Amino acid sequence: MLSRSYLLLFVLTALFGFGCHGKSSNWGMYKSDAQSSSYSSLRQINKENVRTLQLAWTFDPDDAPPGARPANSECNPLVIDGVLYATSARHRVYAVSAATGKMMWSFDPFDGGQGGGVCRGVTYWENGNDKRILFTGGDILFALNARTGKPIPEFGNAGKVSMNVGIRDDPRFISIKPTSPGIVYHDLLIIGNEVSELYGAQPGYVRAYNIRTGRLEWTFHTIPQPGEAGYDTWPDGAWKYAGGANDWAGMSLDEKRGIVFLALGSPSYDFYGADRKGQNLYGNCVVALDAATGKHIWHFQTIHHDLWDYDLPAPPNLVTVIKDGRRVDAVAQTSKVGFLYVLDRETGTPLFPIEERNVPASDVPGEAAWPTQPFPLKPAPYARQSMTVDDLADFSPEGYDSLVKLFKSLRYEGLFTPPSIKGSVNLPGTIGGSEWGGAAYDPATGVLYLKANNSPEVDQLKKIAPEAVTSDSLTPFHTGRTIYMSYCASCHKEDRGGDEPLYPSLIGLDKRMTPQQAIGKIRQGGGKMPPFEGMIRGKERAILTFLFSGDDRKLIQQESDLLEIRHNRAVTTEAADTASAYLNVLAYAPFRGTGNYPGIKPPWGVLNAIDLNTGEYVWKIPVGNDSVLSKKNGQPTGLTGSPGPIVTAGGLVFIAGGKDKKLSAFDKDNGRLLWEVVLPAMGSSTPATYMWEGKQYIALSVAGDKVRPAGRIMAFALP
Ligand code: HEC
Repeated sequence: MLSRSYLLLFVLTALFGFGCHGKSSNWGMYKSDAQSSSYSSLRQINKENVRTLQLAWTFDPDDAPPGARPANSECNPLVIDGVLYATSARHRVYAVSAATGKMMWSFDPFDGGQGGGVCRGVTYWENGNDKRILFTGGDILFALNARTGKPIPEFGNAGKVSMNVGIRDDPRFISIKPTSPGIVYHDLLIIGNEVSELYGAQPGYVRAYNIRTGRLEWTFHTIPQPGEAGYDTWPDGAWKYAGGANDWAGMSLDEKRGIVFLALGSPSYDFYGADRKGQNLYGNCVVALDAATGKHIWHFQTIHHDLWDYDLPAPPNLVTVIKDGRRVDAVAQTSKVGFLYVLDRETGTPLFPIEERNVPASDVPGEAAWPTQPFPLKPAPYARQSMTVDDLADFSPEGYDSLVKLFKSLRYEGLFTPPSIKGSVNLPGTIGGSEWGGAAYDPATGVLYLKANNSPEVDQLKKIAPEAVTSDSLTPFHTGRTIYMSYCASCHKEDRGGDEPLYPSLIGLDKRMTPQQAIGKIRQGGGKMPPFEGMIRGKERAILTFLFSGDDRKLIQQESDLLEIRHNRAVTTEAADTASAYLNVLAYAPFRGTGNYPGIKPPWGVLNAIDLNTGEYVWKIPVGNDSVLSKKNGQPTGLTGSPGPIVTAGGLVFIAGGKDKKLSAFDKDNGRLLWEVVLPAMGSSTPATYMWEGKQYIALSVAGDKVRPAGRIMAFALP
């Protein structure tokens, strides 16, 4: 009997004695808390027992439209008092039991429509018995009753608020779609958005809505209007046509001080800025605002006049750093360039020196790259920021030769080499440095954990003909593509790859039939294919141009860019002059040789632990592995990925997101791998951890695959 009560005492101590909030503990916000710490004080799962971690449950939303391709949800689930709230890839909201994964309710923002788009999560708010889930589906902000999933009638228009109202341009013609959840300050939901990255984009104003009523309470003009500070960092009047400078990645909040911290993206157009000469505040800035009023407190610009799409990709971590024996509250901002900016939380003053250094000039007509950029001296960069021929991937002699040839043909003078007409290397690249998963911060040790991607890209600018931008009609290619997507993709698939043996692939059609034969087939149908005679009448040339164009990703990208620019121009208050506009015709193309891997030597994905008190690295390890290439390489390749790590008081760092489909747990003190599991598909979100009924779980969104195109949520626990 004695031993039994000792056991009970032990269990109670384990549950209550270590500051882990008794038998339950929430993951109540995106990235855990308002500080964006991605940290949990839970320690039931720890270094000793993590190797026995096993699948506890799977939730399968099964909501993909028929024929849909596998899709990813980037949602970091929330868990509040035993209920897990998450969005699926299709963008429905689900409330499921955090113990079993059993569905409690679901809500479809598109009311049966196609859905989709990026959504990294939802926001929870409560006041007494009033508990709400706030989230955006497309360009609508919804407030749902957290218990039932039903819209709150008194919020906005029957539970809905249009995000298009209050942004510079006519709300009827624009679509402002937030991708990361907003943050709560008292009764305000403060939220950013995603906007176009092309000419004529909308400005990414940050706004605060009253959570009770849906009323817009304040707006911060991320592109200043006449009379506002920062206006003179743009050409006169540019605020009417310039866009971007948006917070798509989420924000952090210092509740006590009442300050909200934004991480802003680049101004548009991303790669050419002749119509936005100047530093372009508040593009690429960390901005501190009074959370109650939206008034500017301080800002720090990480890139002046961005020409590389170096958005700030994640909310800053609110941290406390010991400096000269004093505890200083700070923010640590991750970036795509691979620098970590550590700034005083109240003033924005850098805590480690940051130098303005000269950087290469642009050689593109009309462009004026800013002559200097800020270089933090500490911590050292966490991603690769320069490369030479010796750094090119050499898995095979032919592969290496093709890379040398490509590398020598491009402009490259190190970090901040501007895009050029002949093509420039962009390293770390737009998915480089760290991405939307951001960093995890351990308040007990002051160590920050973050994943770095080394992923060079090529930016090549091409002048676009003014008529390509102004003409009203679509090109035949685009008309054909539009028809294809509406009438044919359900069977032959969006990528034309088909679904053999039922529906044939249409790739390489030119090798099997003539355009005449193809049009005959499309008119008459046959087998399981219906006739399309009437549907395509007059559009035969367009559909053939599309079908016989080959699988040219570049062409498709350019076509859709032009279409988006035309749309933007038609709706902006004042269209900028596009007579001398350039387009990055390779936008986001990886720097690659003949092999299907990054053109730089591994590691491509690295997990870093940085002591913020000293600015020094505690450890650094490749994360993820291409097992075939690693055999040639002799060591793990590391893999790129956007989801971020989380850190726990149990001494563990969890991260997923590589193509090797692994969810892994590392010892936070030394980076040693302690446990890993191969998921059915790539782990597509930052994990969440929570405790319910005495059991700690690790949950994350997992990408769709052939079997379950809608993806799933999986939760792991000790046996
Ligand atoms: C309901 C499913 C379905 C839809 C929708 C559909 N197809 Fe097909 N398609 C098929 C099937 C099944 C075949 C094979 C028919 C056969 O063997 O006679 C086929 C064959 C073809 C072929 C001949 C391919 C070959 O290699 O023999 C072409 C070209 C084609 N489809 C184009 C289109 C286009 C263009 C559209 C849209 C306007 C379209 N299809 C819509 C099911 C579909």
